Amino acid sequence: MMGTLEWGGRKRWEDTLVVMLVALVVVKVCAQEDSAVFRTSAFQQTLSVMWANDHVQTEGNGEIVQLKLDKLSGGGFSSIQKYRFGYISMHLKLVPGDSAGVVTAYYLTSETSLRDELDFEFLGNKSGQPYLLQTNMYTKGIGGREQRIRLWFDPSASFHEYGFLWNTHQLVFYVDRVPIRVYRHTRATASMYPSQQPMRLYSSIWDADEWATRGGQDKINWDSAPFLSSYKTLNADACEWKDPYPACASTTWKHWWDQPRAWKLSLSERKMFRWVNSNYLEYNYCTDYKRYPTPPSECSVAPW
Ligand SMILES: *[C@@H]1O[C@H](CO)[C@@H](O)[C@H](O)[C@H]1NC(C)=O
Repeated sequence: MMGTLEWGGRKRWEDTLVVMLVALVVVKVCAQEDSAVFRTSAFQQTLSVMWANDHVQTEGNGEIVQLKLDKLSGGGFSSIQKYRFGYISMHLKLVPGDSAGVVTAYYLTSETSLRDELDFEFLGNKSGQPYLLQTNMYTKGIGGREQRIRLWFDPSASFHEYGFLWNTHQLVFYVDRVPIRVYRHTRATASMYPSQQPMRLYSSIWDADEWATRGGQDKINWDSAPFLSSYKTLNADACEWKDPYPACASTTWKHWWDQPRAWKLSLSERKMFRWVNSNYLEYNYCTDYKRYPTPPSECSVAPW
């Protein structure tokens, strides 16, 4: 399990390099062709293509962005702005039908070599079988903190909101405002709590059939290609980063995401969190004792 997950991580890292190279090309191509992909304003103002211009398309006046995976390539975009602290979300509709082996990643990353990263990864599945939603976290380049849940709805049937709340006290992964994962900043987690580096929102779709679905047993069915995941409404209720450090230091409590009410889950959020964790949790690295005979220190920190 660990080896294969590591493989997934490495692949994406290589992809990012490819992406950076392709990004240079993309800029050139756009200048020449005035590409239709870039013409729509909603998209243009907030997001930019980071990988495979011709595999990123817009619909409905540019309000919906789609990433496409076919035999040639996947695709990806990122937010133009970097953020440090806030609530950042988008509405996603995942690849419908037979999506085994297809992964849609949606994440915040600092893009640095010792990267901080918060991941949602949607692991596709055979027609009619449930998706798994994997979350992971990297701090200073160290990850390996996967959790996987089933969802209480079909994420390919309609748009649902996936969000990150990030402040100096806690990090929360939300699905339709239901907290599914919490990481608190405490003494035990202080050295591994991502708070120094600003992050950009990214999403990409790619072929991960070596590991994604039932441990790699289910391969991509290219007869169902192209695979499309759709996005709308980037909501970045967050501090836009401006150099230099420590921009966006959240000491003034000016914004709701910095204020005491956002430091811990509310009572109703705790209820929802418990509901997800007792009914939908599929895998948690904290209880994978084969992999971590001594669970990492954050595993002993209560979620509130
Ligand atoms: C796909 O469906 C099967 C059967 O219900 C399930 O065991 C598996 O966890 C699902 N998800 C993935 C990503 O394999």
